[in-house]
Amino acid sequence: MDLLRIPSISADSRFKEDVKKTAESIADHLNSIGMSKVEIFPTEGHPIVYGEKIISEDKPTVMIYGHYDVQPPDPLDLWDNPPFEPIIKKTEAHPQGAIFARGSCDDKGQVFMHIKAIEILNSMGELPCNVKFLIEGEEEIGSRNLETFVKNHRDLLTSDIILVSDTSIVSNDCPSITVGLRGLSYLEVEVVGPNRDLHSGVYGGAVANPVNVLCQMIASLHDENGKVTVKGFYDKVEELSAEYRNEMNKRPFSYENYCKDLEINATRGENGYTVIEQVSIRPTLDVNGIWGGYIGEGAKTVLPSKAFAKISMRLVPHQISSEITELFKAHFEAIAPECVKVKVMPHHGGEAAVVSTESIGYAAASKAMEEAFGKKPIPTREGGSIPIVAMFKKILGTDTILMGFGLDSDAIHSPNEHYGIFNYLKGIDTIPRFHQYFAEMNEGKV
Ligand code: BES
Ligand code: MN
Ligand code: MN
Repeated sequence: MDLLRIPSISADSRFKEDVKKTAESIADHLNSIGMSKVEIFPTEGHPIVYGEKIISEDKPTVMIYGHYDVQPPDPLDLWDNPPFEPIIKKTEAHPQGAIFARGSCDDKGQVFMHIKAIEILNSMGELPCNVKFLIEGEEEIGSRNLETFVKNHRDLLTSDIILVSDTSIVSNDCPSITVGLRGLSYLEVEVVGPNRDLHSGVYGGAVANPVNVLCQMIASLHDENGKVTVKGFYDKVEELSAEYRNEMNKRPFSYENYCKDLEINATRGENGYTVIEQVSIRPTLDVNGIWGGYIGEGAKTVLPSKAFAKISMRLVPHQISSEITELFKAHFEAIAPECVKVKVMPHHGGEAAVVSTESIGYAAASKAMEEAFGKKPIPTREGGSIPIVAMFKKILGTDTILMGFGLDSDAIHSPNEHYGIFNYLKGIDTIPRFHQYFAEMNEGKV
């Protein structure tokens, strides 16, 4: 609860001190559960927290990665309780109660499960593996400085497996392990018309309105089948086999409940794919924000000089973030009418990740979850992104296990984010089992 009270909003520089305080709090926790070499590494952005417990050189090492930074809580008025004043309330999905606060699920609550799980193991002298903690403060802004840190600390970050709880399960009675994440390409566009805001009566009709133009340009980025029209966008997308897709679609899913929960009458996506596929194995393009012209109270008859949008594309394996950004830029410039100038400014990005189900790490996670939930978990691919997962593989050569415990309905990044008490406790129950089985299965191998 104390951790949730600190507003560690990485995107907003006004909260820099709070982000730092959160790093300090994480470091204090790592010290208090008996970790050694606990250190806060400053970066050009927000600090990275490290801690470890090496019990034996002969034992395998699990590195726990997570993030203590959170998304901005806006819009504040849509929260039933203030985002940084955590409270416990019951919901339909969480009859045992859930903690409502920004970061409760993504990802402070899930990081804290690991702290508590390791505390238990360590205090009983039963740590089966060496453990390392790497908890960063810039995940929500693209892990900007973590990449450099990982490159400069290869030895410190050596491990046999990286364990991450920053994803979801299908439901509390259908445990799952995430075996795929999408990549991301994020950019901002600017459409510039006349050199100043104009009277929309005096000039309207003759001078191009950049907001109108931007809307047309954005509308043209999808065709009537819901495909992204950016030239070359699908070139590297792998078409998965019918068998694979069939298997994916066997997970419990109710279209009706999905729509009901979101209060929509129907979904809209790429034709020929199910909702499960649309949000996991298919690439997408979405406007995240759009602005321009007058948005204050009342009316102002203005023909704005500029219009802006933030656009992101979710990517699938083999699509390369930087390439997609270039393709978008070329396409957007090509479709711009002569009456405006356009600028495309890339933000962050990252590659997709896939996790093998044929590894000791997966087997250990599966067995741990099966024991804790009383049900064998199914592998699922998710639509969110954790760019550092592909980076870990590239820089360190280490695989990651994505064993998260949130629910899609936990409202991460939205108002009223929450995390189920059931999920929190189930995580603390599952994690020690993972360490135990990971150690045992590694010994079996030798
Ligand atoms: N924990 C999420 C990613 C996630 C959410 C994965 C749900 C699977 C299921 C993470 O904190 C996140 O929000 N990542 C960002 C990417 C980043 C580059 C801003 C995202 O996916 O938008
Ligand atoms: Mn997260
Ligand atoms: Mn997030």
